[in-house]
Amino acid sequence: MGNIVFIARESTGSEARVAASVETVRKIKNLGFDVVVEAGAGDLSRIPDSEFEAAGARIGLASDAASADVVLKVRRPTEAEITGYKSGAVVIAIMDPYGNEEAIAGMAKARLSAFAMELMPRITRAQSMDVLSSQANLAGYQAVIEAAAAYDRAMPMMMTAAGTVPAAKVFVMGAGVAGLQAIATARRLGASVSATDVRPAAKEQVASLGAKFIAVEDDEFKAAETAGGYAKEMSKDYQAKQAALVADHIAKQDIVITTALIPGRPAPRLVSSEMLKSMKPGAVAVDLAVERGGNIEGAVADEITDVGGVKVIGFANMPGRVASSASALYARNLVTFLETMVDKETKSVVLNLDDELIKATMLTYAGDVVHPAFGGAKKEDS
Ligand code: NAI
Repeated sequence: MGNIVFIARESTGSEARVAASVETVRKIKNLGFDVVVEAGAGDLSRIPDSEFEAAGARIGLASDAASADVVLKVRRPTEAEITGYKSGAVVIAIMDPYGNEEAIAGMAKARLSAFAMELMPRITRAQSMDVLSSQANLAGYQAVIEAAAAYDRAMPMMMTAAGTVPAAKVFVMGAGVAGLQAIATARRLGASVSATDVRPAAKEQVASLGAKFIAVEDDEFKAAETAGGYAKEMSKDYQAKQAALVADHIAKQDIVITTALIPGRPAPRLVSSEMLKSMKPGAVAVDLAVERGGNIEGAVADEITDVGGVKVIGFANMPGRVASSASALYARNLVTFLETMVDKETKSVVLNLDDELIKATMLTYAGDVVHPAFGGAKKEDS
């Protein structure tokens, strides 16, 4: 029998995504692995066991993880799951490592080689493995769909014999991957869209999607983008200027969608409850940063709250609400990364610790936490 790749059924109640698709099971088989899919793993992404089976997988139980050389998951494995994995197994997932150092130490102790997909460097070679992009893109789309459904007016301008319905005004805060897709989606629905960001590069991208760019464009703004393309945490002074500008603008909006994140830091607070209360009755706000502390005051994970007549949507796992599409893209991200680890001769995983993708994403190895951002000293060999 060949080496085994195990596709887990997600144990976190609300996670509807799965770490494989029919297409990626075929690909993994072609790499020379046996694939075991935990029964029901694809149910919530509308991939029945029978389709995985037809693609060449064996349908198994959670306990089959014990013989797996590679475990593919959406979420970081729980303590209970870890105890069922074999020592030395490669585990690849969205590990949510920041603030979860204890769980990482647990994976080290279990002697797993754990990889965090969200730490994939944003370089050309790794573009097809970029889960932040693949999932954020769908999150941005879905945020607009949720907002439109919760909004009790129409999105596009409609000129009818009975009168004119004005276009909804949508304001997108944070114009990265999720924000740009939110802009594009809201535009397709006919809304009148504006957006803000602290990175100057966002200005042109927002404009190219037909939205109006609104930002405090001072010297700090001009230097806000890191070499990695991410935003920095802004100074108190900038935040105050930004808040004043935003307060004015938000009062005229029907829908606000926030997507602002700073890697490794809590999400910046951009919308106060005062600002929400200044919006029209029936306005909608969607906070895509709710899992990381939230951009909107009063947003609660997985709830729709009412702040002065404004519906504040805090769905934590927005990509999971378009699970079929999100799983298909995530599975592809995973298999592309896995391919880079496979030795074609032996048809097994051989970790090249000098590879920059491995270096960037490997959290634990041979009993140690190895990622420098989480207390690990880099291991040079073995
Ligand atoms: P992200 O998810 O870390 O943040 C979302 C957005 O929030 C960013 O645009 C950020 O500038 C913005 N933001 C942070 N603090 C803010 C504040 N106080 N006010 C307003 N906005 C704030 O970022 P994401 O979406 O992952 O993208 C970051 C950049 O990386 C983008 O330029 C994107 O185009 C680029 N990118 C590059 C890739 C590559 O080279 N392979 C792949 C994907 C994205």
